[in-house]
Amino acid sequence: MEPEKVRLGIAGLGMAGAVMVHAARAHPAIALVAAADPHAAPRAAFTADTGLAAHADIAALCDDPSIEAIYIATPHQFHAAHVALAAAAGKHVIVEKPIALDLADAARIVELADQAGITLIVGHTHGFDPGVRLMRRMIASGAHGRLGLIAQWNYTNYLYRPRRPEELDTARGGGIVFNQMPHQIDVARVLAASPARSVRAHLLALDPARPTEALGSAMIFFDNGAAATLTYSGHDQFDADELHGWVAESGALKSPAHGAARRALASVTAEATARTERFAYGATANPPRAHLPHFGMLIATCAHADLRATPDGVAVYDATGVTQHDAERRPGVPGRAEVLDDLVAALRQGVAPLQDARWGMATLRVALAMLTSARERREVVLD
Ligand SMILES: NC(=O)c1ccc[n+]([C@@H]2O[C@H](COP(=O)([O-])OP(=O)(O)OC[C@H]3O[C@@H](n4cnc5c(N)ncnc54)[C@H](O)[C@@H]3O)[C@@H](O)[C@H]2O)c1
Repeated sequence: MEPEKVRLGIAGLGMAGAVMVHAARAHPAIALVAAADPHAAPRAAFTADTGLAAHADIAALCDDPSIEAIYIATPHQFHAAHVALAAAAGKHVIVEKPIALDLADAARIVELADQAGITLIVGHTHGFDPGVRLMRRMIASGAHGRLGLIAQWNYTNYLYRPRRPEELDTARGGGIVFNQMPHQIDVARVLAASPARSVRAHLLALDPARPTEALGSAMIFFDNGAAATLTYSGHDQFDADELHGWVAESGALKSPAHGAARRALASVTAEATARTERFAYGATANPPRAHLPHFGMLIATCAHADLRATPDGVAVYDATGVTQHDAERRPGVPGRAEVLDDLVAALRQGVAPLQDARWGMATLRVALAMLTSARERREVVLD
């Protein structure tokens, strides 16, 4: 007999919440039950599409005895409070990255999850992508020899999408260190499979009109002797998808549009309103994903092979030439489907998730160390 579906509520019907609605509806082991968002427009769109209840307050999801788990996709500053509400109601949790904005809140979340005895997963990040999971298995198999270096770089229009004021203020969770580089940190940690020991970073805010870091590079050194280099630029100049066959981050096909975000932003008058409205559930499409999601160039160098993320899996470059290994494809939203897989595996088979609260806290620790390293121009050792 099939185990019962996991009954899920979604808190936050913005950019991340919208994608998870599609992922949950497509996942064979998930039953989407309800959503919550203070804004009326995404609630109405959600109910029109799904026939399900949409509440104005996350408390209604916590009070619903039929809901087992809540996906928290509210803005970062609410993560700790919303995890506390869900944990107090005994709900399992998926909380979006970053887990919190400081280590005290992250530690509180770890403690809350422990005390409530709930499963807590931090995601989605691109560390869940099917191609990254395939690459992790290939490295772990030992077939390609010892892992030496993970190189990642991504160039996007991040800085010039419409933003709320806090998204342009690093102290309040703005900029690439809290929003974009956690994907790269997670991918590196998933592949290295070893604790991060130290970090050296370079981060700059080059546009005084948008004074948060949108350009950076970091090197992470792992316990096992491997290292990772991460480079990110969100200046809407070069677009790394050009080197990935014009496949977008989601896995959908896209057309080149260099500079389009900056040109569009110039004609936006109420930026914060545009930010909220443009990305809310109902305002965004659910694009067909012809390929896998990705986060720019990713190459892992092992003793006998380079492994490169490709639109459909991993290319292995070794003494025999190049071999393409496709990752498993299934209906739904790849990347998010794996987050839900891990929730189902935890609740129905007792399999502990890799990307749990302690994992999320460790990723945050690396991100915060990058800020310190860049500010103080030194390597930061993680204890
Ligand atoms: N994994 C990814 O690829 C990815 C992509 C985008 C965002 N995110 C993460 O998801 C989180 C949300 O980001 P976003 O871009 O979707 O933001 P967003 O502003 O588009 O959406 C947030 C939504 O939460 C709602 N909200 C605010 N307070 C609420 C409350 N008390 N109860 C319920 N809903 C509430 C807002 O009305 C809004 O609709 C962030 O932490 C972000 O880092 C992750």
